[in-house]
Formats: sequence, C-alpha cells, structure tokens
Amino acid sequence: MTEKIDFTEMYVTHDAFRRDLGRLEAAARAGRTDDPRVRGGWENFKAQLLVHHSVEDASLWPRLVPVATEPEAKGLLEDMETEHARIDPLLAGFDRALEDGADDLVVRAKELADVLGQHLEHEEEEALPLIQSLLTPADWKAFGRAMARRQGVRGAAAWVPWITDGMAPGDARAFLGRFPAPLRLLNRLLWAPRYERRRLWKF
Ligand SMILES: [Fe+2]
Repeated sequence: MTEKIDFTEMYVTHDAFRRDLGRLEAAARAGRTDDPRVRGGWENFKAQLLVHHSVEDASLWPRLVPVATEPEAKGLLEDMETEHARIDPLLAGFDRALEDGADDLVVRAKELADVLGQHLEHEEEEALPLIQSLLTPADWKAFGRAMARRQGVRGAAAWVPWITDGMAPGDARAFLGRFPAPLRLLNRLLWAPRYERRRLWKF
C-alpha cells in the first residue's frame, strides 16, 4: 500500500483561521474592536494567513502544476490562486474600516469569514484529495520544510500556541504529541506562556 499524506498541520491551521474570524465577529458585535487585545489578535491572524497563503502559492500549488494535467485539476489550481487573491482586498478593507471607525464591521467580519471559509472548504474538499492522489509524502514534507524555512524558530514559537489556543485539552495533547520532546518542552516553558501573555482576543 502506498503511504498516505498526513494533512494534520493544514487542517489545524485552517481551524485556527476559522476560530479567529469567529472571535473577530464577536469583538465587532460587542463594539470592542479598538481593544488592543483584539487588534493584537487581528494582526496575528493576518500574519499567519499571509505566511500560509504565500508558502502555498510558492511551494505547494507549483508542485502540482506538472502533474495536474487533467482540465479539472488545472481549473482547481486556478481556483486556489483566484480565491487567495479575493481575500487580500477584504483584509485591506477591514483595516481601513477599523481606521475609520466604520459602523459595518460585523458585516465585514462575516463577509471575510464567508469568503475565507468557502476557500478553506474548497481546498479541503477538492485540493487536498488531489494532492493525496498526485503528490507523495516526500513532496508534502518538502512543502513542510518550505513552511518551516519561512517561519523560522520565531514563526514556530508563534504558530504552535496559536494553533492550540482554545483547543480541547485532548486534541491539544494529540497535536503537541506530534512534535519531538524538546520542542514540546520549549513550547510549554517559553512559547505558550509568551503567547498567553499577549492575551490575544481576550477582550
Ligand atoms: Fe491551506
């Protein structure tokens, strides 16, 4: 049997995006988007999304181009690019609305959650199965290495506790269990406490 690709990191990252946009909408509803903890959560969300999408664009979709020869597969890759491009103006628009103290932040937060949510679902439902059928676990690891290179230690220090933020304890244990013991220790002693101190979204 051929070895299957494990998409855990992709799924937990997508879930963290969904969780943050739920928090953004809650903050907008409560009229608390000026709270520094909400602004911190929003800035962190944008930074995580930028890394995620830019490394996918640079190191994941191009890997599929030579092997995705069916028209449907080609169309799907185009969709991924188009969908990524639709999200950036919404982020910029939300930033402008924050600056201006606009009164439609709830609507904007919902729109962002809808558009990003549809993209993530599309990716999970169609792109990941395509990847599973066309790429090898070695290809996937190469994408993982590109992500790790882009993130560096500082990026990992911010990403791991952001992922486990709000996770059920059993799920968080299972997720952290994927990492070597020294990294888990580093997270417990340094990264997670540092993340907690930022009080992101805790308005
Ligand atoms: Fe993704």
